[in-house]
Amino acid sequence: MKEVTRGRLTTRTIAMPSDTNPAGDIFGGWVLSQMDIAAGICAGQRAQGRVVTVAVDSMSFIRPVRVGDILGVYTEVAYSGRTSMDIHVEAWVRRGRIGQRERVTEATFKFVSIDEDGAPTPIPDEKDLPTYVLDNNNCEF
Ligand SMILES: CC(C)(COP(=O)(O)OP(=O)(O)OC[C@H]1O[C@@H](n2cnc3c(N)ncnc32)[C@H](O)[C@@H]1OP(=O)(O)O)[C@@H](O)C(=O)NCCC(=O)NCCS
Repeated sequence: MKEVTRGRLTTRTIAMPSDTNPAGDIFGGWVLSQMDIAAGICAGQRAQGRVVTVAVDSMSFIRPVRVGDILGVYTEVAYSGRTSMDIHVEAWVRRGRIGQRERVTEATFKFVSIDEDGAPTPIPDEKDLPTYVLDNNNCEF
């Protein structure tokens, strides 16, 4: 069955030789970092302000990433609490820039909305958000 992406394409980048582990595959920590960046964009737009990562759950490395792959990270707000959000994150690659597209990693990132002092602060109601935050089908970011 064909795999389908979940969420909005939030970042794209190319895996470089400097991101490899000793075996020559891309280092898992680099992929995790790209996912944290994309999740932070998603959470920051949902919170309309500053956010921090507080936890990462259910991290699965499904397939390796290789030098020259395009890495695309998809994000979606899976849950909003009072000050916290669960962001579903999927990383996909396009092999060697032009080949097959495959899901390589997925996880749930928990972010907390914080004020200028770093204390948790409530996230806005969905009805008060700009439309681009909720529309998964447009490319505006
Ligand atoms: C995020 C932080 C401000 C939360 O402070 P806190 O005193 O634990 O805040 P609270 O107990 O009021 O919890 C705030 C929210 O976060 C959630 N939360 C806090 N710690 C959590 C954890 N470990 N796992 C899941 N959720 C957590 C709470 O459930 C609450 O959610 P809600 O408001 O939606 O109900 C604080 O833990 C912090 O600064 N952590 C470091 C974050 C950071 O530096 N990240 C980058 C790492 S390099």
